[in-house]
Amino acid sequence: MPDIYLYEGTDVLKNLLGIRDRKHLEEAEADYVTFRLKEIALKPLPGGYDYAHLLQMHKYIFQDIFEWAGQQRKQNIYKEEPVLGGLSIDYSDMFDIPKDSEHALAGMRSKHWDEMDTHEAALQFSDSLARIWRVHPFREGNTRTTVTFCCQYADEVGLNPDRQLFEDNAQYVRTALVAYNAVFDDLGDKSKPDYLIKIVEDAIIRGTCNS
Ligand SMILES: Nc1ncnc2c1ncn2[C@@H]1O[C@H](COP(=O)(O)OP(=O)(O)OP(=O)(O)O)[C@@H](O)[C@H]1O
Ligand SMILES: [Mg+2]
Repeated sequence: MPDIYLYEGTDVLKNLLGIRDRKHLEEAEADYVTFRLKEIALKPLPGGYDYAHLLQMHKYIFQDIFEWAGQQRKQNIYKEEPVLGGLSIDYSDMFDIPKDSEHALAGMRSKHWDEMDTHEAALQFSDSLARIWRVHPFREGNTRTTVTFCCQYADEVGLNPDRQLFEDNAQYVRTALVAYNAVFDDLGDKSKPDYLIKIVEDAIIRGTCNS
């Protein structure tokens, strides 16, 4: 099945900037997104931390780049991961996206964050972040949207993680999310949660020191 999000015969995502070169698009996207992320860090996007709010977060961050910003994907996705020997994470089926997202978000909202020490908060935040990320509601931009959304939520419950740490270690964070979610129907549980927990705990400790 052809990827409806790409310019025909290319590996370049259709975009509002009309860019037809992948590298050029990645650079332009990074510039616009960095600007939008700074805006959100200064002025949080209001909402109830439900699925509608998550869609709005994606819309805000990618409004300059993709016509479909804020809309869930219309195709299933498979992304080959070098750290999984070329396998893909089992992302949600496109028909399950709203249900799976709402479930993961309700899990995050129901936790008693004020009763946790730093380590427990890091464990629980990592788990919610990873579960929300695993759905991958969007064709592109899931990691930036999920991390920003969950950090904003964490600020509201008083964890104040240092977002810069996630931004500066974006490749590590994505790999850690993959490692956390490496659970397969056929191969069983290959997950390694410790990488994500480590950086989340560091972000919470740094945030506490900065505030
Ligand atoms: N939290 C973040 N803050 C700023 N930039 C980020 C962040 N996470 C990733 N990036 C940058 O965004 C670009 C794309 O990263 P990546 O493809 O891993 O994530 P994504 O597009 O947001 O999500 P996905 O591809 O999983 O849907 C990379 O240049 C990466 O460095
Ligand atoms: Mg990406």
